Amino acid sequence: MNLSVFKAQSLSPRTWEGTWQAPSNIALIKYWGKHGEQLPKNPSLSFSLSDCVSQTTLAIKPRPKGNEPAFDFYFEGQPKPDFHPKIKVFLERILPYCPWLLEHHLRIDSQNSFPHSSGIASSASAMAALASALVAVEELPREQAIAKASFLARLGSGSAARSIEGPLTVWGADPAVPNSSDLFAVPLAESNYNPIFKTFCDTILLIDRGQKKVSSTQGHQLMDQHPFANARLQQSTLHLQRLLKALQEGDLKSFITIVEAEALTLHALMMTGNSGFILMQPNTLEVLNKVWDFRAKTGLPLCFTLDAGANVHLLYPQKEAAQIESWISSTLKPFCQEGQMIHDRVGTGAKKV
Ligand code: DP6
Repeated sequence: MNLSVFKAQSLSPRTWEGTWQAPSNIALIKYWGKHGEQLPKNPSLSFSLSDCVSQTTLAIKPRPKGNEPAFDFYFEGQPKPDFHPKIKVFLERILPYCPWLLEHHLRIDSQNSFPHSSGIASSASAMAALASALVAVEELPREQAIAKASFLARLGSGSAARSIEGPLTVWGADPAVPNSSDLFAVPLAESNYNPIFKTFCDTILLIDRGQKKVSSTQGHQLMDQHPFANARLQQSTLHLQRLLKALQEGDLKSFITIVEAEALTLHALMMTGNSGFILMQPNTLEVLNKVWDFRAKTGLPLCFTLDAGANVHLLYPQKEAAQIESWISSTLKPFCQEGQMIHDRVGTGAKKV
């Protein structure tokens, strides 16, 4: 696709305010490694969540033309200078696509539905909510607005590209997914997955709510010289093909095999890079083993996935929720920090509030 479609026409100076909500997402096929300007080394696919969201109010007003973006940022009602550098880099990166930023002052007010120190990455939901609000200023036709929101969100945080739509989105060009692109994510068409996947629940076990020792950005960098980089690219492509088939056929057994292989591969890649690191904690391993035991004993379709941290996401269809959630509460709660967990489910993406 030609990048010029994302370039804004000049916008007459205006005062505008809007509020957007965007969800977090959990990758089933993991994005790990990037190149160029936030382009993925491999295709990824995720569930968008429903209740773990960021909500952002953007208010813009005209100002004399400057050389750089001008903004104030508030998190949960308080000024948050710590977040300024990341937002500044993001706004500078999107300048070619939103040149009106140089003629407007922005006030950005953001909040998350999930606890700040939960270890849940908020960059995907936060960047997706901000990108959605920025695109709304431009009043583009719906389809164009969605693609541009994902395109801009990607420039803030790669995985944020996948938080604009739902329930399943793909980011990264792959012949198996029509119209897929490295520049923005696309939703998987409803005819391409069994309805059971729309009912999936995600219980997030908060194993370690502390600050991560290695950021995702540093983790992605390790893929540049990674001894298994080529094998990972081949594997992710094969996993995507197999997962698409499992989604189409409603084949939960294959779904589980691929999703867990992806989670373990992500952490194996972290451990086997040139300066390896481990983000799983002893309780992460306890939980994984308990999930395997439970599945072997009950035959119920419960599986886990991990993001770049110690927390565990437990995925299962709604129709099995009663039995699975009662087991999670009785058996897995002790492995969570202060017994904390979040029950979420699959959702539909960003929306105007
Ligand atoms: C392990 O999107 O947080 O969650 O592009 O540097 O912001 P940046 O990275 P980020 O990486 C997410 C990695 C992951 C897997 C995934 O969500 O696909």
